[in-house]
Amino acid sequence: MIKVITYGTYDLLHHGHIKLLERAKALGDYLIVGVTADDFDKTRGKINVQQSLIERIEAVKATGLADEIIIEEYEGQKIDDIKKYDVDIFTVGSDWTGQFDYLNEYCEVVYLERTKGISSSELREEKRAIHLGLVGNSAFLNKVNDESEYVNGLQITSLCTDNLEVMNDHLKNIDFITNDYSKLLANVDAVYIRSLPNEHYDQIKQALNMGKHVLCESPLTLDEQQNKELFEIAKSKNLILMEAIKTAYATAYRRLLLLVKSGKIGDVISVDATCTSLQSRNNDWPGIYEWGPTALLPVLQILGTDCREFKIISHINRETNRDSFTKIDFLYDHSVASIKVGDGVKSEGELIVSGTKAYVYVPAPWWKTDYFEIRYENQNDNKRYFYQLDGEGIRHELVSFIKSIENNRYLGNIDKQISYNISMIISTHENESLIKKI
Ligand code: CTP
Repeated sequence: MIKVITYGTYDLLHHGHIKLLERAKALGDYLIVGVTADDFDKTRGKINVQQSLIERIEAVKATGLADEIIIEEYEGQKIDDIKKYDVDIFTVGSDWTGQFDYLNEYCEVVYLERTKGISSSELREEKRAIHLGLVGNSAFLNKVNDESEYVNGLQITSLCTDNLEVMNDHLKNIDFITNDYSKLLANVDAVYIRSLPNEHYDQIKQALNMGKHVLCESPLTLDEQQNKELFEIAKSKNLILMEAIKTAYATAYRRLLLLVKSGKIGDVISVDATCTSLQSRNNDWPGIYEWGPTALLPVLQILGTDCREFKIISHINRETNRDSFTKIDFLYDHSVASIKVGDGVKSEGELIVSGTKAYVYVPAPWWKTDYFEIRYENQNDNKRYFYQLDGEGIRHELVSFIKSIENNRYLGNIDKQISYNISMIISTHENESLIKKI
């Protein structure tokens, strides 16, 4: 009996897939189809697969062409499978020609002509190309623009800025550039805002009132009530309003939260986060705005949003009259937290979550988390975790935004209550009388 194996994602199963499976089957007597797991897909850049693994398996099953279906979960698995199932022929479409020649050592490798004119990526694009406009004067927009290329169903088409210079040469795909925000809004389905925080409220409100979805860099506004009002408007108009903090979409950071919530380190007693940079990274956001929301994220996501009190101490730079270093101490019912943020002061950018059984240690720069440790009293028990960080989290953030728009319900990682708290804490910081200055 000749055994044939082939692999694919099989998202939105189309006739190109079916033809491939038919010809693969015709190469032998028994066809094994490896369907690629979501997580594994992510590492290959297909991060906006529409259907779940189960749905994709069901679709392959329904073709009636596979004698056996397996899941492809890790790199290098093909060699294991070929040995395990005693495969005679490995086959895939001609878009992969040459890339699997290394399997010749284990079985015959056949590249089959790919069906022209159809692909899952095109189907995904057709289904939902959301036109996104970028807003602001920050070089950070370049990163968002670059990352959008990994996301199916999203096209950055327009830019509203007063400072074209910071956007350097990353702008090739943008065909509409303006400094008139209304004109930008007329040209897009959604906006990504990275203007100064005091401009957010008006810009978000205008966008929502024009029926556009909004992804806005945190803090959403500088006033908790304004946040509430904007979320109300979004809800009444069936629009997505989402706060952007890229770390919330880093896989390692997400896993860390889950491990802590599942009791791995016992009861959490303290969360301590430090984020600093000497130069304002993109020279746009002064003082606490630069790092405040990111540092607050683990405090609020781990300990919750009902802290009893907090105390702010800021070091003020006499030349700029802005805070260059701020320390905030939080008191909860049974725990404490502290953040240290510096814009012009440098420190070790680590995150430590202390518990009654162990602590989590995330080395600097923790906001670009790809690695962390759970450390126990007996260091032989320590556990290390590594998860690939793709695009600093930005591309997963964009995927969440699009999926939310598509599903007409918020699927992001930052709850509304956390948005309110971030704005409340940052607005407290803006109130001179409440900060202790050094
Ligand atoms: N395939 C094919 N003809 C097509 C599309 C895919 O023969 N028009 C083959 C691929 O070469 C592969 C298998 O079908 O052997 C599964 O491909 P997959 O990557 O799941 O589908 P694509 O449509 O290529 O997906 P994408 O656009 O996301 O790359």
